[in-house]
Amino acid sequence: MIRELKVLSEDGAGLTRALGLPKDVPPGFGLRYDPANSATHVLFDGFGRYHNYLRISLVEHCNLRCRYCMPEEGLDWTPDEDLLTSDEIVRLARLFVHEGVTKIRLTGGEPLLRPGVEAITEAIGKLPGLRTLAMTTNGLLLIKKFDRLQAAGVNLLNISLDTLRADRFESITRRKGLNLVIAAVKEAACRGYDPVKVNCVVMRGQNEDELADFVAWTETMPLEVRFIEFMPFDGNQWDESRLVSFADMLEIIQRRFPLERLSDGPNETSKTFRVPGFRGRVGFITSMTENFCEGCNRLRITADGNLKVCLFGSAEVSLRDTMRQGASDEELLETISAAVGRKRARHAGMHTIAEMENRPMILIGG
Ligand code: GTP
Ligand code: 5AD
Ligand code: SF4
Repeated sequence: MIRELKVLSEDGAGLTRALGLPKDVPPGFGLRYDPANSATHVLFDGFGRYHNYLRISLVEHCNLRCRYCMPEEGLDWTPDEDLLTSDEIVRLARLFVHEGVTKIRLTGGEPLLRPGVEAITEAIGKLPGLRTLAMTTNGLLLIKKFDRLQAAGVNLLNISLDTLRADRFESITRRKGLNLVIAAVKEAACRGYDPVKVNCVVMRGQNEDELADFVAWTETMPLEVRFIEFMPFDGNQWDESRLVSFADMLEIIQRRFPLERLSDGPNETSKTFRVPGFRGRVGFITSMTENFCEGCNRLRITADGNLKVCLFGSAEVSLRDTMRQGASDEELLETISAAVGRKRARHAGMHTIAEMENRPMILIGG
């Protein structure tokens, strides 16, 4: 794959076309990915996928207790000294951006619980070459921290919200807070985030009767409501009978609203639609019934410093330990390159995943 690059072109756009790479490959890409230089191909896997999207989990804890995300009995949290420090996070972010990552998403747990989250975003926001600094949050602390986060360059916000009803919010999350989350969504829209992405995990018997209400919210607001198929993680009692498939969701929504399909980029997790005439959009994240692994451009770093090349893969390598053993940037890149090179073509299918050992979602960050 890499050899092919050399003979193709030194023109970034040409390479993008030839390799089916993401449209936002940075200018000069063709020059930077020189196969004679070993450090430049670390983000390619064995299937030619170029990973320019890094998700970094800042913290394991959360101020909600969503049943689909963490085990009922709680978890053995990683001691603070075993979590990545702010300096380690920023070092890794810098290294990945230098190698061609253009999008970093901060996740958790709940990322806004991380002490020093503002300073971390400020440092990452300054990295040259980074185009998107995103965060996935439950929104509870967003309004308090919004000014600094926005000034730091956070330019994409995904807010998790599975119900618009207060009693259900409490039963799904085992905490109160619906009004704060709705206020955070509205505040993000007022501040110009467009779209504000709203992540709604759909579970049978829990919230599938609210899909059309969420869609109605897109009539006037610049929202992209994304309905997510319920996925199995350790301790979340996944069962196929609780999965509402993409096909079923479409059918439920179309009883009330017509939907037209929009086009999606090659690396999107979401299949996007809109109700004709509505301001916002509706998306479906169909990991279970129609995986989108072919276009996967995502890598993950867990709060305890493991590089995870696939959401549904248990293979992990500790970048924390590598750094704490005194590794140079070049040595770290070798470790990263080897892990990315071992990435599988796709996840193993929902039934296998459901049986497989992985982390609970709260320890991955989505
Ligand atoms: P955008 O960058 O805005 O497209 O968001 P995203 O979908 O990449 O991230 P977000 O944190 O909003 O996650 C939404 C849902 O998509 C969650 O359920 C994630 O677990 C799921 N998701 C994100 N990345 C992947 C992935 O690489 N594979 C799979 N199967 N699911 C993913
Ligand atoms: N299945 C699907 N999505 C999930 N999320 C958390 N757990 C699951 C699950 N089991 C979503 C959250 C958040 C995003 C990071 O992942 O709602 O929006
Ligand atoms: Fe990528 Fe793994 Fe998600 Fe598939 S399941 S899209 S390979 S992270």
